[in-house]
Amino acid sequence: MNVSERPLTAMIGLPDGPPDCAAYGRAGGWQAVRRALRDMTPEAVIETVTASKLRGRGGAGFGTGQKWSFVPRDPPATRRKYLVANADEMEPGTFKDRLLLEGNPLQLVEGMIIAGYAIQAGHGVIFLRGEYHLALARLNHAIAEARQVGWLGENILGSGFGFEIHVHASGGRYICGEETALLTALEGRRAQPRSKPPFPQVGGLWGAPSVVNNVETLCNLPHIVANGAEWFLSLGLGPDSGTKIYGVSGRVRRPGAWELPMGTPLREIVEHHAGGMRDGYRLRAFLPGGASTAFLDAGQVDVAMEYGAVEKAGSRLGTGLAILLDDRTCPVGMLHNLEHFFAQESCGWCTPCRDGLPWVERLLDAIESGTGEPEDLDRLHDHARLLGPMGRTFCAHAPGAMAPLASGLKLFREEFDAHIRQRACPLRETA
Ligand code: NAI
Repeated sequence: MNVSERPLTAMIGLPDGPPDCAAYGRAGGWQAVRRALRDMTPEAVIETVTASKLRGRGGAGFGTGQKWSFVPRDPPATRRKYLVANADEMEPGTFKDRLLLEGNPLQLVEGMIIAGYAIQAGHGVIFLRGEYHLALARLNHAIAEARQVGWLGENILGSGFGFEIHVHASGGRYICGEETALLTALEGRRAQPRSKPPFPQVGGLWGAPSVVNNVETLCNLPHIVANGAEWFLSLGLGPDSGTKIYGVSGRVRRPGAWELPMGTPLREIVEHHAGGMRDGYRLRAFLPGGASTAFLDAGQVDVAMEYGAVEKAGSRLGTGLAILLDDRTCPVGMLHNLEHFFAQESCGWCTPCRDGLPWVERLLDAIESGTGEPEDLDRLHDHARLLGPMGRTFCAHAPGAMAPLASGLKLFREEFDAHIRQRACPLRETA
């Protein structure tokens, strides 16, 4: 794949660090914002992005152009609107936005100006994961430089459109990444999700129309506006357009993240880019796109990493960064670890999530440590059934937590039974 087919990461990994405004411009940056502000109406930008079929890269895959189209189109002077970049990347196993934030923060700045123009929002906020210290420093530096050069501020390029970006470092909870909890946190209140509808596009930050887009989504915009929707459509191998930053963690030779065409099969990502499994380890199962996606079996490793194909296989593409389980790691232990995370990160607002997730964690702890009873499996199944479907809890946190559990109970049934029968972890010797 040549550089033009790796648009998101083409300027990442330069020896001198992220490009400054001038270097970014020399490498093709700022072309898109010029085109958008000089030659396109906000509606034309929305049409181009809709035609490109860009889908949200945070995990849910909602159409970006469609999301923008819900924002009321009254004149900006009468109403405040906000664009929020969701940079609160806390999904276990997911580290793609970090790469983009640290490697080329101006790409995000340019993407945000374009998105702000499209929805006619004068204010942008980057809600950043609290631990991303290097990203924070580089973003602040990039924003200050962009402001000094005139890419931010009032009347950009004499277009009449003005845009400012503010960076907010998160207090550090997983739930802050849920878009409505994120907005509540920005308002200075305890980060609890709000009910949807109203969706943020209509009633978001301080009640104003707001669009929350993921970092990788926003970073795609300069390339779509500069090269056109047809070009973006042509990058994908199947029905989904563009490239995607995929990644692999687990016992592979080279864990990491790579920008590849949408629809690249997971086998190619694992074997070619991650160098295959380490000696002595075999792939047992995998979570295709972060901790809140369902396990797929090793036999499904040829799945194309695109929304429809992964869903057809029984899971979700999620963030596109896969977590691999090998044959020497205890699946019950892995699930216990994941559910410990989800229980700890419940915001505590709704009872099924606040009480159910710690219960799941305790049951898994007991089974893993050899004190589990056969009835505990029924209890786990009950939790997966009751907490799994959307709508029984206030937000997607508990359903997300149940995705690996429900699939794991099916896939690792033998291992669960062996733990209970032997009153110990059968893999302890080899782990
Ligand atoms: P969602 O499907 O409820 O919403 C996705 C986006 O589409 C939101 O911006 C929402 O406003 C919009 N939307 C959905 N339905 C809409 C409608 N009818 N009208 C207008 N707008 C609508 O999903 P959610 O809860 O925002 O995200 C869940 C995903 O987040 C999961 O798939 C998970 O993979 C991912 N995730 C990612 C993390 C990360 O660190 N990147 C962390 C945790 C979860």
